[in-house]
Amino acid sequence: MPNLNMNDNKQLPIGVFDSGLGGLTVVKELSKILPKENLIYVGDTARVPYGTKSPDIIRRYAQQIAFFLLQKRAKMIVVACNTASAVALKTLRGLPVPVVGVIDPGARAAILSTVTMRVGVIGTPATVASHAYKKAIRKYSSRAKVWEKPCPLFVPLVEEGWLTHPLTKKIAEEYLRPFISKKLDTLVLGCTHYPLLKETLSSVMGKKVALIDSAFETAREVKQLLEKNNLLNASSKKGKLTFFATDRPHSFSRLAQQFLGRRSIQAKRLTFDSI
Ligand code: DGL
Repeated sequence: MPNLNMNDNKQLPIGVFDSGLGGLTVVKELSKILPKENLIYVGDTARVPYGTKSPDIIRRYAQQIAFFLLQKRAKMIVVACNTASAVALKTLRGLPVPVVGVIDPGARAAILSTVTMRVGVIGTPATVASHAYKKAIRKYSSRAKVWEKPCPLFVPLVEEGWLTHPLTKKIAEEYLRPFISKKLDTLVLGCTHYPLLKETLSSVMGKKVALIDSAFETAREVKQLLEKNNLLNASSKKGKLTFFATDRPHSFSRLAQQFLGRRSIQAKRLTFDSI
């Protein structure tokens, strides 16, 4: 377990996880604003999607991955998954390192964006059922009107790489139709997979609706927290990115390379003995 007072802890990695590829949207922002940090990413591709599972199971998966990251001496854990943030963050906050989720940063970004205070939220069934976004947005402004909608098919479409496929657009039109009459000015992409569908979602919602993805705000919060805990890596070298996938590491690596624009990604296989 890392001792947060030791100087060499600054060199320790930040652990980041998601059910699959979605959390790479957060990795991308983290590498931009914290290029010296070492990152270890876990994509739980054997058990994706999380969003259609029950809170108990999601909490167990999240704890298992968090323990793995602690074994790898993570100095901080970023839950780059809205579903796990919605149902498991309280449990994970009992860990001996700082833990950051994506929902609060996303809600803050939504409030900064909206002028009309009419906000839509799309997410996995588990995230929407938890109303975590509605609560977080209304904590920042009780005037905000929030409509939520689960979009369970989006995650498998992203994992399949169908980001701009005509069928993806048809499904998006079907899911987003109820929002059109609500005259939203802001739509929160309440799942870290959804920013990969930004082009398709924006073509359906129109240019006047701002699409909020929590990745940037989350990365900013991570930076602030590292500064506050005196954990910023001051090394002169670029940080190392290490990837693990719980299934099909080759296909994960291929899609991760495309998304992050790096040729060198070779995810290692991670297996858990039991759930
Ligand atoms: N990317 C995740 C999220 O932000 C999980 C999606 C899923 O596995 O259902 O919710």
